[in-house]
Amino acid sequence: MEKAWWKEAVVYQIYPRSFMDSNGDGIGDIAGITQRLDYLKDLGIDVIWLSPVYQSPNDDNGYDISDYRAIMKEFGTMEDFDEMLKQAHARGLRIVMDLVVNHTSDEHQWFVESRKNKENPYRDYYIWREGKAGDVPPNNWGSCFSGSAWQYDEATKMYYLHMFSRKQPDLNWDNETVREEVFDMMRWWCEKGIDGFRMDVISMISKVEGLPDGEMADGALYGDFGPYVCNGPHVHQYLKEMNEKVLSRYDLLTVGETPGVTVDEAKKYTGYDQHELNMVFQFEHVEGMDEENKWNTRPVSLLRLKRILSRWQTGLHGVGWNSLFFSNHDQPRSVSRFGNDSDEYRERSAKMLATCLHMLEGTPYVYQGEELGMCNYPFTEMSQFRDLETINAYRELVEESHKREPEELIRCFQHRGRDNARTPMQWDDSVNAGFTTGTPWIGVNPNYKSVNAKAQQQDSDSVFSYYKKLIRLRKGHDIIVYGDYKLLMEESPSVFAYVRALGDQKLLVLCNFTSEEQALDIPAEVRCPEGEVLISNYGREQAGDIQTLRPYEAVVIWQKQ
Ligand code: GLC
Ligand code: CA
Repeated sequence: MEKAWWKEAVVYQIYPRSFMDSNGDGIGDIAGITQRLDYLKDLGIDVIWLSPVYQSPNDDNGYDISDYRAIMKEFGTMEDFDEMLKQAHARGLRIVMDLVVNHTSDEHQWFVESRKNKENPYRDYYIWREGKAGDVPPNNWGSCFSGSAWQYDEATKMYYLHMFSRKQPDLNWDNETVREEVFDMMRWWCEKGIDGFRMDVISMISKVEGLPDGEMADGALYGDFGPYVCNGPHVHQYLKEMNEKVLSRYDLLTVGETPGVTVDEAKKYTGYDQHELNMVFQFEHVEGMDEENKWNTRPVSLLRLKRILSRWQTGLHGVGWNSLFFSNHDQPRSVSRFGNDSDEYRERSAKMLATCLHMLEGTPYVYQGEELGMCNYPFTEMSQFRDLETINAYRELVEESHKREPEELIRCFQHRGRDNARTPMQWDDSVNAGFTTGTPWIGVNPNYKSVNAKAQQQDSDSVFSYYKKLIRLRKGHDIIVYGDYKLLMEESPSVFAYVRALGDQKLLVLCNFTSEEQALDIPAEVRCPEGEVLISNYGREQAGDIQTLRPYEAVVIWQKQ
């Protein structure tokens, strides 16, 4: 398989608002990131993916951009950015920017012009349609953040499309001038020396012509836009064009966030012969295609997780490339969701999850705080939430439609809400976990006294030290990057076991996802009794013939014939 630096890299995602506040206003900023680069260097990661830092009115924390060539005031200045980039590069760290171009902010100059009148040269930058008789929006699509996907605009008495909030109007990618503007802006950042793009909801940029009504599920308030918006008719054409005009001219890491993507679609986005993107984020394993409503408290099924991840592992092997993640700024904390965040098992299960993920084939992503085993926040009331997805869902489901009970829905938010991942990074055991000297914009998880970076950096047995070791292993063992994958114990609802193979090397990965001891059933030909234990979260030193795994145990054994 062809080698590439972005296959060998480990990416660390920073959500700048919650990472490090350098000036005491309670909001993380770019200078704060620069202060903490040595921490990231110590962890051993190669690439930083920065959630958006562009100018934004912050309806959706920076995912609503009003100027792509300016820095958000709260985060600092372009000089701060340039300094951060320089300092990162000086440490051998690369910077990948979030590229949010399915939509802009309604405060972007393009939209300010576009909404003025129908003749405005920017009119066609966005998706405007006449309503249906009787003040009915052009179609029945619901936005991802509740309500209709259409907003009526008084000035021209027409509706504009917004798949997210009404302050995030969708760009019209069918307009060639829009594409050229975006490519131009991308080149501008590339010329600055950035190292790649994470492309926000890039699978949604091409809508099916005619914008047909979506199917209405039982009890749903809006039609399902999925088939008409995700992986639309021209998305591959537009990405090939972007690749030809921008991406191929630089040495970049490119990853598409692709809601609704299937393995077959991913082959088109990431295929080595397709000239689109390096890799995509798929969501089947964290959200589930069969999930009618994300607001539930259902536990994760390991069988399902294994089935999905295995399908992606084998589906893309040799054809395209996977990105590996259990968490990001839109997901709950991985240890709370897939592991066990009780005092007894938090550390053990966080290490187990990391092992399971980092040994798969693909580029691993660490979401800030995951390397400390940070947990979901114990939310109990609506005033603690900041995320508009959560706040809008409450309004729609409790206050307007009375479909859900308040306490019950808040429990679901506590389980799945995006704010779980957005509480401040826990640096030390001082006030506000060392994140800010002011008042943090969102509450700090009360467990920071025991869960924090300072304590863990000094402790060789911490989750942080374990991540360090895991990341270092990747640098010394090409099988971790390039080996192929085979699932073992397929029917086990408790153990995730797999074997990687490359030439005469074998890598056996054994992970117990439960708090009980589990018996193993590994075929003789893939057992590695003579192998070397590369990492173990129980301090296991000899491979031997392992018969059982202790609660949340993970062990990786490497053998060369
Ligand atoms: C993506 C981002 C999410 C954002 C949305 C709209 O899913 O990850 O945070 O709210 O797109 O830009
Ligand atoms: Ca600040």
